[in-house]
Amino acid sequence: MTTRLVVLISGNGSNLQAILDACAGGALPARVVAVFSNKAEAYGLVRASQAGVPAIVLPQAKDIHRRDYDALLAGHVAHYRPDYVILAGWMRLLTSAFLERFPQRVINLHPALPGAFPGTRAIERAYAAWQAGEIDRSGVMVHLVPDEGVDDGPVLAIEKIRFQQGEFLEAFEKRVHQVEHRLLVRTLKQVFQGKI
Ligand code: GAR
Repeated sequence: MTTRLVVLISGNGSNLQAILDACAGGALPARVVAVFSNKAEAYGLVRASQAGVPAIVLPQAKDIHRRDYDALLAGHVAHYRPDYVILAGWMRLLTSAFLERFPQRVINLHPALPGAFPGTRAIERAYAAWQAGEIDRSGVMVHLVPDEGVDDGPVLAIEKIRFQQGEFLEAFEKRVHQVEHRLLVRTLKQVFQGKI
């Protein structure tokens, strides 16, 4: 049976693209049944449409409470009956009003190692820490999202990335994204196969 995925994005959607390509090419035994974005300008919406996947924008209105938005979002997502909800560059914290609807079914990607640089701009912050001589490597992790912790939860996979002498931020960023695309697809496959 094909695993049904709903992917949540907020921006470029290069990781969404990696998932779409892996599904289309048969590397991932899954189907993206809907893509949701909280940002209307997210390029990932174009990627979803080009792949023939429903692309839905749900911005958070100013007068709606966080938990009410999450309950609304959960209702829309549930409509697509996902086996898993993938946070691929979803830059908004989800409360239990969302998470409780999909227990053990929400998976997040974060461009840093467990416990390091949670939140936004993790790649830039890791790079700055390297420049300051504080770290010599960073990485990428894929983890379950059981509760409202920021980029925190049971780790499914990590890959460490060493900084390279004289490397500019742009080059490091590119390497991080390359690792993300590979690690996310590989980890999802292992999860769907019950290997992790
Ligand atoms: C990725 O680097 C992802 O790990 C990060 O946002 C980027 C989205 O890129 N997520 C976080 O920082 C979560 N805290 P994309 O839109 O090109 O997939």
